[in-house]
Amino acid sequence: MTVPHELIRGSSTASRPVPTQRRPAGSSAWPRSLTPQQLHPLGLRTPFLALDTAMLRRHVTDFLDAFEGRVAVRYAVKCNSEPAVLAAVVEAGGSFEIASAPELDLALAAGAAVEDVFYSNPVKPQAHIRQTAVAGVRRFVVDGLEEIDKIAEVATGVGVLVRIRVDDTSSAFPLSSKFGVALSDAEDLLHYATARGLVAAGLTFHVGSQCTDLHAWSRAVNAVAPLFSRFAEAGTPLQVLDIGGGFPAHYDETVPTTGAVAAVVLASLDAMAHPPAEIVAEPGRALVAETGVIGAEVIGREMRDGRPWIYLEVGAYNGLMEAAQTGARWPYPVLAVDAATGEPLDDAARVLMTVTGPTCDSTDTVLADALLPADLAVGDLLYLGGTGAYTTSYASHFNGFPPPTPVIVA
Ligand SMILES: Cc1ncc(COP(=O)(O)O)c(C=O)c1O
Repeated sequence: MTVPHELIRGSSTASRPVPTQRRPAGSSAWPRSLTPQQLHPLGLRTPFLALDTAMLRRHVTDFLDAFEGRVAVRYAVKCNSEPAVLAAVVEAGGSFEIASAPELDLALAAGAAVEDVFYSNPVKPQAHIRQTAVAGVRRFVVDGLEEIDKIAEVATGVGVLVRIRVDDTSSAFPLSSKFGVALSDAEDLLHYATARGLVAAGLTFHVGSQCTDLHAWSRAVNAVAPLFSRFAEAGTPLQVLDIGGGFPAHYDETVPTTGAVAAVVLASLDAMAHPPAEIVAEPGRALVAETGVIGAEVIGREMRDGRPWIYLEVGAYNGLMEAAQTGARWPYPVLAVDAATGEPLDDAARVLMTVTGPTCDSTDTVLADALLPADLAVGDLLYLGGTGAYTTSYASHFNGFPPPTPVIVA
């Protein structure tokens, strides 16, 4: 069985260059709280996803500080919806962006104030619109007339933000072919929303997930600025600008820091003639990816066409879906670990291997080219870093293999 391309997030990335794992595994910085030496004494059963929620709280406050407190955090629940993760976001001063009514339940259970929650999935089941509006959600993202009609029928008076299509070509997972309208259509949609008894609240965009172009967000802010001016000059100012997600996490590659992105975004916000009263962002992976490490056992090792293949108890279907979406070239940092001692197998000679998953399907392969210790054997462990985002929230039990068990190590 293969995943139909139109069904997977970012399917248009199939031909997009993604870095390979050709550097020695484990060469990038590894969070101190998530090293094998820290985790081994806990005696965790594999597969596990160890999550450091103290680090997550720091990431949220660092994000807020980088934007000088002018941009509020609406963390994307879809990214990792573990209750402890959501609670950490709230404790650090963030709230949420939801994709569905069940995600609102998770957000509220974590302590979010309902009026802060953005329902940012542009196309929603009408039952979810009704349910979340009754619960008190007031911000709904749209990108078409039909969606405005659906909201107007069941949620009179709520605010709508129109999502515009922006350049997402520097992201690993572009979104603009599925969502967003041309900026030139946004004004009409906002007027239509007003005519249908809704509040024209503002504009939003998403530059694509894991966007590595430092200027992507600021270009989008510059593009929407004239529309904020037109509404302000007409006496009906738009209240909200939502700059979306896409902020890159640090995998085994170099990416712009949040601080660098924030500096250019703030400059663009300063240049707006009529800035909105409220500015929010919807970061997901940038906050939580690096706070997670998956530990998984090597369950098999075979030679295929002269190259060692490592069979891991976690593959694309039960936790590492982004590997499948990127041709097994997603740059997870990797450490090989001796299961008995918990020590990294650091000194051994390294050879190129393919790391695949546990199912009978070939598309669960995790790493197409991993430089790993030559003597890596059945019973050893691999630690995959940067796995706090889009892992367990995506996972299935395909072939009977469970997703990694989340463990909070804060
Ligand atoms: C509407 C919306 N906001 C925010 C995000 C989070 O994106 P990221 O994890 O790239 O920051 C997503 C991800 O798909 C999204 O669809």
